[in-house]
Amino acid sequence: MKVVFFLGLALLSCGAEGACRGLVDNGATVFDVTKYGAVADGEQECAQAFIQAFNAACKSNGAAKVVIPPGTYMSGEVFFQGPCTAPAPITVEVQGTVLAQTDLSEYVNGQWFAIQNIDGLVLEGGGTFNGRGNESWRYNDCGGQVACDSLLPPSLVFNKVNNSLLQGINIVNSKGFHMKICESYNFTAQGLNITAPWDSPNTDGIHISRSDLVTISNTTIRTGDDCISIGEGSTNSCVSIGSLGQRPDEEDVRGILVANCTLSDTTNGVRIKSWHESPNLQASNIVFENIVMDNVRNPIFIDQNYGSKNKPGSSNVKISDIHFKNIRGTTSSNVAVSLNCSDTVPCEGIELVDIDFKYIGKTTAQDVTLTAACENAKATFSGTHNVSPCVV
Ligand SMILES: *[C@@H]1O[C@H](CO)[C@@H](O)[C@H](O)[C@H]1NC(C)=O
Ligand SMILES: *[C@@H]1O[C@H](CO)[C@@H](O)[C@H](O)[C@H]1NC(C)=O
Ligand SMILES: *[C@@H]1O[C@H](CO)[C@@H](O)[C@H](O)[C@H]1NC(C)=O
Ligand SMILES: *[C@@H]1O[C@H](CO)[C@@H](O)[C@H](O)[C@H]1NC(C)=O
Ligand SMILES: *[C@@H]1O[C@H](CO)[C@@H](O)[C@H](O)[C@H]1NC(C)=O
Ligand SMILES: *[C@@H]1O[C@H](CO)[C@@H](O)[C@H](O)[C@H]1NC(C)=O
Ligand SMILES: *[C@@H]1O[C@H](CO)[C@@H](O)[C@H](O)[C@H]1NC(C)=O
Repeated sequence: MKVVFFLGLALLSCGAEGACRGLVDNGATVFDVTKYGAVADGEQECAQAFIQAFNAACKSNGAAKVVIPPGTYMSGEVFFQGPCTAPAPITVEVQGTVLAQTDLSEYVNGQWFAIQNIDGLVLEGGGTFNGRGNESWRYNDCGGQVACDSLLPPSLVFNKVNNSLLQGINIVNSKGFHMKICESYNFTAQGLNITAPWDSPNTDGIHISRSDLVTISNTTIRTGDDCISIGEGSTNSCVSIGSLGQRPDEEDVRGILVANCTLSDTTNGVRIKSWHESPNLQASNIVFENIVMDNVRNPIFIDQNYGSKNKPGSSNVKISDIHFKNIRGTTSSNVAVSLNCSDTVPCEGIELVDIDFKYIGKTTAQDVTLTAACENAKATFSGTHNVSPCVV
């Protein structure tokens, strides 16, 4: 199912095509960023070298692979922009570490790596994107609000990137969100490691919107905000869903699968959230399966009063057909499950199967009873679980 080049085969020396075209790796011509001027000293600006290497690969006629070799590179804003003439997939192999420019005025378009209009991208290589957010977080203008989109640049933004695979990459200390997937079709992310301090502001892990068939698996996310947030207009995608209903033109969310993930040291685990006075939207057919929580405050959370605690009214997002299966690990709160649904359109068809948490919060009492809190929610509990079901 996945298209990945085998590494280490058929390494040939530079062909007649010019110094910038490097080795051939299993049929793909290698476009090595250091041949385009990138210097692995962690100080010189490499953005233009990255862009030129990508453009050369993209505009070539044979199989192409961009390589960022081992070493540390510093870079401001980068655009990897298709459409490409090279046959799909075009591979970007990040072996080294890319450090973000710390001067915020360099991010004219508001993002670090903008990857767009590509059909068939493979981004892999075990390397690291380090957003160096620590020096920017104090400029976060959300003033401690949770319901706020940070204006600090997100690290990797995939826009209109179809039939693509992102695997085995580390994304750390992003200034804003670590990763956004927008308007993309058939996007698989696996084996990612996304980390930022728990107190870093609005550093969501992965935000998905207006996309179809997104699968995220085998991924570790420890960040300061949502691990995975699935925004409006997402369908058939494979962790927090929302926030929904903030703007009038949003689209439904349905057919989402979140599987095989570990969430560590976060406030919220799997969450669906929606705003008051939202348009009439639906969030349905959503499955959270085989999820391990490691010190999560609200492991399972539906919050239809999101960002609206002091606002009147209620959410008009209808949440139904939601399945939480085999979710286990540790929680720092005794309310392991909170289903706080809309009073005008109550949640229906919420199923919880095999829910098993261990309390590791501050209370030293030997037997803390883990409970579920429900409001306006029709939920069934089955399988083995150690959370007292809510009485509906
Ligand atoms: C990606 O897929 C969408 C929906 O199928 C399509 O509209 C768009 O043109 C595709 N983009 C690319 C770059 O292939
Ligand atoms: C940023 O780094 C400094 C020095 O390492 C540390 O003291 C501070 O807590 C960090 N800030 C955040 C928000 O992590
Ligand atoms: C999704 O993309 C992969 C390449 O990453 C491709 O092999 C697969 O056929 C695509 N699936 C669909 C349903 O388009
Ligand atoms: C999960 O991802 C890690 C890191 O990329 C990789 O080493 C491991 O093989 C993956 N495991 C599975 C089951 O795919
Ligand atoms: C994930 O990244 C963090 C921070 O860079 C590192 O400490 C941790 O070992 C990594 N985990 C995996 C599974 O690679
Ligand atoms: C999750 O892991 C199980 C067991 O390894 C596997 O059968 C299933 O396909 C995985 N699901 C996804 C969406 O990767
Ligand atoms: C639901 O949310 C409202 C507003 O935040 C709060 O007052 C109420 O106690 C919550 N209900 C449950 C069952 O947690």
